[in-house]
Amino acid sequence: MNSIPRAQPMANSIFPLFLFFLFFHFPSLSPAKLRPDFYSNSCPQAESIVRSVMHKALIREPRSVASVMRFQFHDCFVNGCDASMLLDDTPTMLGEKLSLSNINSLRSYEVVDEVKEALEKVCPGIVSCADIIIMASRDAVALTGGPDWIVRLGRLDSLTASQEDADQIMPSPRANATSLIDLFSKYNLSVKDLVSLSGSHSIGKGRCFSIMFRLYNQSGTGRPDPAIEPRFREELFKQCPHGVDENVTLNLDSTPYIFDNQYFKDLVGGRGLLNSDETLYTFYETRRYVRWFSKDQSAFFKAFVEGMLKMGDLQSGRPGEVRRNCRVANGQSVII
Ligand code: HEM
Ligand SMILES: *[C@@H]1O[C@H](CO)[C@@H](O)[C@H](O)[C@H]1NC(C)=O
Ligand SMILES: *[C@@H]1O[C@H](CO)[C@@H](O)[C@H](O)[C@H]1NC(C)=O
Ligand SMILES: *[C@@H]1O[C@H](CO)[C@@H](O)[C@H](O)[C@H]1NC(C)=O
Ligand SMILES: *[C@@H]1O[C@H](CO)[C@@H](O)[C@H](O)[C@H]1NC(C)=O
Repeated sequence: MNSIPRAQPMANSIFPLFLFFLFFHFPSLSPAKLRPDFYSNSCPQAESIVRSVMHKALIREPRSVASVMRFQFHDCFVNGCDASMLLDDTPTMLGEKLSLSNINSLRSYEVVDEVKEALEKVCPGIVSCADIIIMASRDAVALTGGPDWIVRLGRLDSLTASQEDADQIMPSPRANATSLIDLFSKYNLSVKDLVSLSGSHSIGKGRCFSIMFRLYNQSGTGRPDPAIEPRFREELFKQCPHGVDENVTLNLDSTPYIFDNQYFKDLVGGRGLLNSDETLYTFYETRRYVRWFSKDQSAFFKAFVEGMLKMGDLQSGRPGEVRRNCRVANGQSVII
């Protein structure tokens, strides 16, 4: 977790004054200790600016806030919450945007750009893109009827991104509960965290692409997943027939614009969209949490907040910076 020894050789090779500047004007370059009041002096308006841009995004396109909330998962699981997934590819770096789980799927990057622009106007160079993702994800949940909570801040943005890491880490929509439990445990996230965080699928949409195997060839059987409730299965057949444009989208739960526990009720009813959703009900170790959250929304909200805080604390310990543009590392010129 100590980023200084690795940052020094780089800074040294550039120029000693830069090193001085680095340590005295950007104390946050020491290993980040996250805390709620991180910007209370340097940018007291940060939280309200993020919330207001997210509110505008919600009104313009309701799904966009769900799309932004998903960023927290795809950012934090791949080398910590460091906004690496926001970096565009460069001639020398394949970023995460085109990785298996993100290509044609992650969207609404422009909302983060808008937040960043608004923040740069008021407090230039202060608020990291990694913290924007954390605040914006919380706001997406709060603005759609879910819980609101205090986030810890002070993350730095990565200098680079890794398509390969994203490919290797991010789970497939075909994943079963066993493999998801394993994956989450690598981050010290419990079975309860896995189930509550999957409740994020209470908002947003998924593509036919993500369920074709489940509808037509589950586990290579040539049959649909038997866990799909028959009437729901007929609906899915209609929305995603053989040969459909697989970019066609479907709701992840039956109330896709409201953050509530309907997702868990749907799972109990066999109406989960993804295999990775329904498996949480069919598998004994996760089922009790699905049942519990389906009956007790406040228990879900409490567990969800705990999970988001834990996931938001994941850090790589690598050197970082506060990017001026979330898509480009500061040292890199923008390629048009
Ligand atoms: C447990 C493992 C998970 C898997 C396998 C998974 C997989 C997926 C897939 C396949 C989609 C639809 C993508 C598409 O079809 O283009 C999706 C959407 C989404 N995921 Fe997850 N996800 C998981 C966990 C999470 C977590 C932990 C969060 C956030 C805390 C999250 C937030 C979202 C949101 C909000 C959407 C909707 C995005 C939109 O409408 O644009 N997911 N997820
Ligand atoms: C779950 O998925 C993993 C990885 O694909 C596979 O090895 C395992 O056999 C599956 N487990 C069950 C119970 O189906
Ligand atoms: C998980 O917890 C163990 C023991 O407390 C710790 O050594 C490890 O670094 C943690 N891993 C992560 C990814 O936080
Ligand atoms: C179903 O999956 C199996 C195993 O992956 C594969 O061999 C088979 O060709 C697939 N069937 C269809 C109709 O796609
Ligand atoms: C979905 O849309 C993207 C971008 O428009 C396109 O490149 C891709 O081929 C489409 N995918 C499918 C499965 O049709």
